[in-house]
Amino acid sequence: MGKGALLNLDGAARFYGEGENRVDALLSTDLTVEEGEFICVAGPSGSGKTTLLNLSGLLDLPSSGRVLVLGRDSGALSKGARASLRRELVGFVFQAHNLLPVLTARENVEYSMLVRGLGAKERSERAQSALTSVGLLGKEDKFPRELSGGEQQRVAVARAIAPGTPLVIADEPTANLDSVTGKALMSLLYELKEREGMTFIFSSHDPMVMECAERVITLHDGSIVKDNTK
Ligand SMILES: Nc1ncnc2c1ncn2[C@@H]1O[C@H](COP(=O)(O)OP(=O)(O)OP(=O)(O)O)[C@@H](O)[C@H]1O
Ligand SMILES: [Mg+2]
Repeated sequence: MGKGALLNLDGAARFYGEGENRVDALLSTDLTVEEGEFICVAGPSGSGKTTLLNLSGLLDLPSSGRVLVLGRDSGALSKGARASLRRELVGFVFQAHNLLPVLTARENVEYSMLVRGLGAKERSERAQSALTSVGLLGKEDKFPRELSGGEQQRVAVARAIAPGTPLVIADEPTANLDSVTGKALMSLLYELKEREGMTFIFSSHDPMVMECAERVITLHDGSIVKDNTK
C-alpha cells in the first residue's frame, strides 16, 4: 500500500442480492491511486466500472474488504462523517449531467459549493473561474436548456471542479458527446489535472478516451484484468 496514496482498495468487493440472486459486481480488488493520476477505468457494460467508481468516491461501501481515501477507511466512518469526507474530497461528473433545470449555469456551479458551506463571495469567485476554465465565459447566465449537450457537460465539469476537491470522478463523461466535443472535454480535464494537480478517475468504453488516459485499468466480470501505465 503506497504511503500517502490518495486511494487504496484493499480486497474491496461489492455484491448485490443474496443466494441465487447474488450478483458479484466487483470481486476482491486491490488498487492504489496516487495523487495527480489521470486514470481511465475501461471494460464492457456490466464489468463493474460504475461500482468501482462509486466505491472510490465514497458514494457506496464495499461488501467486504476496505476502501481508504487519504488513509481514511470509508467503512469505519459514520454515514454523516462519510458524507462530509466525500464533500471535502470528491467532485463528481455524472453521466446524465444532473444539472438543475431551473438554475443557470452559474447557479448550478455555485449550488455545489453552497451544499459544502462555502461563503457567497468564494462561491461566486470559484464558479466564475471554473466556468471560465471550461470555456463558458459569457454563458454563465444561460439555463441548461439553452446550452448544447457538450456545453451542459462542461457545466457539469465546472460544478465538479469548482469546490477544489483533490479527486474528481467522472462516469462515462463523454458518453453523450460527439467525438470532437468528447475529445475537447478530455483535453480540458487533462489541462485541469496539469494545472490544478487534481486526480481524475473516469470510466469509458471509448478508445479515444482510453488513449487520453495515462493509466488504463480494464475490468472484466468484476475483476481487474489489465492495469497499464503509459
Ligand atoms: N443496485 C444494483 N443491484 C443489483 N445489481 C447491480 C446493481 N448495480 C449494479 N449491478 C450489477 O453489477 C454489475 C456491474 O455493474 P456496473 O454498473 O458497475 O457496470 P458498468 O461496468 O458500469 O456497466 P456500464 O458500462 O453498462 O455502465 C452488473 O452486472 C450490474 O447488473
Ligand atoms: Mg456504468
